[in-house]
Amino acid sequence: MTQINIITPDGQQTSIDASANESVMQAASRQGIEGIVAECGGNAMCATCHIYVAEDWLDRLPAMSDDEDALLDGAAAERRANSRLSCQIPVTDEIDGLTIRVPDRQV
Ligand code: FES
Repeated sequence: MTQINIITPDGQQTSIDASANESVMQAASRQGIEGIVAECGGNAMCATCHIYVAEDWLDRLPAMSDDEDALLDGAAAERRANSRLSCQIPVTDEIDGLTIRVPDRQV
């Protein structure tokens, strides 16, 4: 099991268990994390799974694809240097302890 720490827009921090066969978005949605909308179901078409990644984790995640980069430009909340799409981050042992923050809006 991989643990992911999630800070929701209201400032509450929750730790969830994630499995290797899912994305960070799927793990968060499955456990009812508020603010991860994921309208397209993880197909990199909506940007409603936008998250902010803790700075010390940025270099430890898989590189961003051109599609993810383009979609983030259209995210509802401000795009920042640490913005990612949670559906494009697969759960692996390497991300155990990852901390992410959910933006205040997705649509
Ligand atoms: S769920 Fe649509 S882009 Fe991630």
